[in-house]
Amino acid sequence: MADHVPVTKAVVPAAGLGTRFLPATKATPKEMLPIVDKPAIQYVVEEAVSAGLDDILLITGRGKRPIEDHFDRAYELEEALRAKEDPERLHSVRESAELADVHYVRQGEPKGLGHAVHCARRHVGDEPFAVLLGDDLIDERDALLQRMLEVRETYGGSVVALMEVEPEQVSLYGCAAIEPTDEDDVVRVTDLVEKPVPGEAPSRWIIIGRYVCDPAVFDVLEKTPPGRGGEIQLTDALLTLAKRDRSEGGPVHGVLFRGRRYDTGNKLDYLRTVVQFAADRPELADEFLPWLREFVAKHDEAGR
Ligand code: G1P
Repeated sequence: MADHVPVTKAVVPAAGLGTRFLPATKATPKEMLPIVDKPAIQYVVEEAVSAGLDDILLITGRGKRPIEDHFDRAYELEEALRAKEDPERLHSVRESAELADVHYVRQGEPKGLGHAVHCARRHVGDEPFAVLLGDDLIDERDALLQRMLEVRETYGGSVVALMEVEPEQVSLYGCAAIEPTDEDDVVRVTDLVEKPVPGEAPSRWIIIGRYVCDPAVFDVLEKTPPGRGGEIQLTDALLTLAKRDRSEGGPVHGVLFRGRRYDTGNKLDYLRTVVQFAADRPELADEFLPWLREFVAKHDEAGR
């Protein structure tokens, strides 16, 4: 029945502890770390909205209040900016509150991504939905999520975003065995392994943090035992669905993504992402890029 229901909801898990960024994340959610001047999670919500999904459910937990405040009105701040006649900043403050219809549910226990997604069940109901992981940002010029929604329309079931990486990277991700379809950028997923040990990966195609899930995933997640790391894995639940046909909530297709993805999940990639985003901002790039060039040149000279 859910087969022809359009996707309107996006689920964004945001309950992680952010230990890789301590001490910055001791009292600030990692999702609020800025990429230039916007918190990372705002880019993710904007991506969902531009794909037409403006009902956003954030899966949060302890210490995530700043995220709720960010997507809410801030009357005192707005008043102050109005009094200062600063319409540009006033707009930037209101923008995040008006972006989408943002809802929250708390995960309670850190039992894994699959468990986090299951927490969305009541809100989502019997409808297909998107899942966007905040550690991955997709360039707004590359319409990945839109394409995934089209693929769900055509084939039903669930859809994952796949990217080809170097073999030594594969064990950091969920990895897919794939078969071609008649479309260049669409594959049928025949196997999925969460963080395969080196040598046991079925391919070099890894799942990046974008999914369109059939609601059948909820029943499957309930029965999915803890997997890698003792956590309930979304990858394992999707493998169950990959083996089913369309009448039972399957199958699973992959969209092969060859566009620009930015990782914010660890310090080095986060730094790269900030620099890349700054270089794409005309108002910053004119000064920032010449400075960066000079800085690197001087730095290299000093090191010699
Ligand atoms: C999660 C998923 C993994 C996926 C990755 C994408 O892993 O479990 O399958 O490849 O996100 O970023 P995590 O990064 O939460 O360990």
